[in-house]
Amino acid sequence: MTINPVFTDATPVTPRDPEQQFRDDVLAGLAAPQKFLSAKYFYDAAGSDLFEAITRQPEYYPTRTEIGILDDQGAEIAALLPARANLVEFGSGSTAKVRRLLVHRTDLAAYVPVDVSESFLHSEAKALAADFPNLTIAPVAADFTRAFTLPDGLSQDAVAGFFPGSTIGNFEPPQAAQLLAHFGRVLGRGALLIVGVDLVKDKAVLDAAYDDAAGVTSAFNRNLLVRIRQELGADLDPAAFAHRAFFNADASRIEMHLVSRTAQTVTIAGQAVRFAQGETIHTENSYKYTVPSFRRLAAEAGWTPQAVWTDPNALFSIHALSRA
Ligand code: SAH
Ligand code: AVI
Repeated sequence: MTINPVFTDATPVTPRDPEQQFRDDVLAGLAAPQKFLSAKYFYDAAGSDLFEAITRQPEYYPTRTEIGILDDQGAEIAALLPARANLVEFGSGSTAKVRRLLVHRTDLAAYVPVDVSESFLHSEAKALAADFPNLTIAPVAADFTRAFTLPDGLSQDAVAGFFPGSTIGNFEPPQAAQLLAHFGRVLGRGALLIVGVDLVKDKAVLDAAYDDAAGVTSAFNRNLLVRIRQELGADLDPAAFAHRAFFNADASRIEMHLVSRTAQTVTIAGQAVRFAQGETIHTENSYKYTVPSFRRLAAEAGWTPQAVWTDPNALFSIHALSRA
């Protein structure tokens, strides 16, 4: 079975040329007093591969823990999806997690993975189609924070959302609430949303998860610089920046930075950008919630908490949310 051809070229509502947007965002972020870059730019093909490599590091507990919850509780979680639902996954990446729901539900109308990492999205959709030959798969290459249309031709049956991986943690809490509200509008009335959320825990465990001994997270972080060099014709050397990640307990978030090893001036898309020695580019936050704090955030966004599952060590949580 091939992926349903009606859907494979679904056109996202992209407001601007992505290359121009990347250049503008990079230059604006690097002109700010605290230099920053958007975490969504981690994910080109190399970034997706590096993220998958992170998930295999012994220190990075979230992926294997969430998969463990899905292995143990997947039948109960999948049972909440409405009959013949169209299942939309936001930031789908590897399809390892959704497979653990799909095995319990052969009646789903379609699976719609949405991701900015286009080549990875399509290769994962193809692999899934080989294993689930009766499922309609309709990948959408889009930024899920922006308006985008679900593919034409989806059945009129209910729509449900899946947002695993604690990607919600990569947004500032007010933006996370806005994003959950946005998903509510995309999914429509009466939707169900299953969200994976990493939990607050011991600082040493969190610090190690974002600074693995093999240096994979460091390479993932520096991939942003590789992209800037390659795509924007910059003269910067990724090795001239060090990886720094730490849990900021006051803000309940991991912060990732790239630290300039020396005072240096780089040219990006024709513009000079100066770095003092030790100056950082803030590249990512990964907020950690408690079950009640995430439920409050979801409620702010108009979702009603239905159920929550955690692993035995309470490292990670999966929430079922519904919307009137
Ligand atoms: N859901 C997977 C992957 C998590 S990594 C898992 O649980 O393991 C985050 C994923 O979200 C990546 O695949 C990345 O490409 C995608 N992503 C990040 N920001 C995005 C955005 N704004 N729009 C669409 N996809 C995004
Ligand atoms: C995708 N996201 C939830 C990951 C996280 O844990 O915040 C991205 C990541 N950054 C460094 N390691 C993993």
